[in-house]
Amino acid sequence: MTTLGFRRTGPAAVDSVMAASRIVTAFRLGVEVAEAVAGATAPNPPVGCVVLDAQGVVLACEPHTKAGSPHAEAAAIAACRRAGNAERIHTVVVTLEPCNHHGRTPPCVDAILATSAQAVWIAARDPNPKVAGGGAASLSSHGLIVRFLDQLDHPKAPSLARAAKRLIAPFAKWTQSGRPWVTLKQAIAADGGMIPLAGHKTFTSPASLALAHRLRRRSDAIVTGSGCILVDAPAFTVRHVPDHAGKRRVLVILDRRDRTPVSYVKAAEARGFDVRIRSRLKDALDELGDAGVQEALVEAGPTLLRAVMDQDLWDEHVIIRQSPEAGAPDTVDVVSRQAA
Ligand SMILES: NC(=O)c1ccc[n+]([C@@H]2O[C@H](COP(=O)([O-])OP(=O)(O)OC[C@H]3O[C@@H](n4cnc5c(N)ncnc54)[C@H](OP(=O)(O)O)[C@@H]3O)[C@@H](O)[C@H]2O)c1
Repeated sequence: MTTLGFRRTGPAAVDSVMAASRIVTAFRLGVEVAEAVAGATAPNPPVGCVVLDAQGVVLACEPHTKAGSPHAEAAAIAACRRAGNAERIHTVVVTLEPCNHHGRTPPCVDAILATSAQAVWIAARDPNPKVAGGGAASLSSHGLIVRFLDQLDHPKAPSLARAAKRLIAPFAKWTQSGRPWVTLKQAIAADGGMIPLAGHKTFTSPASLALAHRLRRRSDAIVTGSGCILVDAPAFTVRHVPDHAGKRRVLVILDRRDRTPVSYVKAAEARGFDVRIRSRLKDALDELGDAGVQEALVEAGPTLLRAVMDQDLWDEHVIIRQSPEAGAPDTVDVVSRQAA
């Protein structure tokens, strides 16, 4: 079949030249670049795209960096053009199904069809019920081979598919429910409590602190309670890992008794936060969803944490446990309620 001036060959041609290991390597790169932009792209999901030539050589690897900027597929194809490699484009490997509709940018399906691509590998299907399946179906109807990562026979395929699904989990929840993905971060001391010793703000290791800052980095909002503010006055900024340039987060403080000091709010605003003091948890989350927040990180003391759990408002629970053995590393458990 000929499409937009390019002759598409067929499944046999693609399978004979592209080893599963090449596809897996490409997906790994795509997931990596997408993970690096998680937290920068709201209200869009983080996506990575890798373009290969017929031998499986990587021609380009690009993420979608920000809402309004080119999607990953368009960015990777543009990178091939800039490098003079566009005529070598053979296989497009992308962490999320290419879009087939006009949003802030033109459809990625059209961008792919305008190249010599023969095959498209997709890790995660589009979770948006309005567009689900449309991108893959449109590419196949134009003669491209379309395959999904979960069809790939390779030992690394399942873990990569899970990583790709987790990347878009906040976007999936938001498109389907209007609410952000809620991650709870909870540090538990060796004695089973959550409260640091007097004069300390934490009891976790530097590695756990870096993890906490990576969780902040990928979030669009921090949700906390007045108790946490009154005791610790946390900065809630990303300091232990580099933050996304120009990132501005919402800071929601649950506070029914109006105890949050004005000086704290002013200082948080000066640090770049859009501070909102709210008294109702569910309403606060709805409001975050309305503002396009994809992932909200709950960093609070035991009272608010319990309320979020009791109201069944969480999606992922990251539990950092201090070891009872002095100097031993903390352990980290992640419980995710994402559908398998
Ligand atoms: N280990 C950890 O992971 C961790 C993390 C953060 C903080 N902490 C520690 O936790 C301690 C503070 O604990 P905490 O329990 O007092 O603080 P918190 O949970 O951060 O804040 C409690 C306040 O949040 C508000 N709140 C709670 N549930 C609510 C709901 N359903 N709706 C609306 N507002 C709600 C209430 O404000 P009103 O009373 O005004 O209604 C409540 O007093 C500090 O010592 C801090 O160091 C530990």
